[in-house]
Amino acid sequence: MIQKSFVMMKPDAVQRRLMGKILSRFEDKGLQIVAVKLMQIDEELAKTHYGEHADKPFFPSLVEYITSSPSLAMVIEGEEAITTIRKLVGATNPLEADLGTIRGDFAMDTGRNIIHASDSPASAEREIGLFFNEDEICDYQIVD
Ligand code: CMP
Repeated sequence: MIQKSFVMMKPDAVQRRLMGKILSRFEDKGLQIVAVKLMQIDEELAKTHYGEHADKPFFPSLVEYITSSPSLAMVIEGEEAITTIRKLVGATNPLEADLGTIRGDFAMDTGRNIIHASDSPASAEREIGLFFNEDEICDYQIVD
């Protein structure tokens, strides 16, 4: 089934100039970028996006990290995109992420794990709606 997922390169990916390399992983796999926005996330949006973690001890530092510098928000589309992207991204803790995954190759710390990807169709829909208006998402065919 063709799905859309919300993917966000976090401030450390932008600061470390990894945006191009990471974007290539999704394109090389055959997924389609349908929306991209480099944006400074404010505290309110960070708290809403990560609302399910509000009670966790790491929540304040997560919000501080996400609002520390711009992030690259994206919508990526493709066959089984949500699961496929989670596989490309790797485990939340980069030390447990397989080598060859984005977190496995580029990160060392759960608190600086460089990328977020929706974990279910329900969160994809919610997160896409938080970051993008309908008219910012492109509908186009790749012509080979
Ligand atoms: P993400 O996939 O964006 O979803 C929730 C985020 O919370 C996660 O990536 C990490 O950045 C962060 N997170 C989860 N667990 C921890 C933890 N134990 N310590 C610090 N940050 C965490």
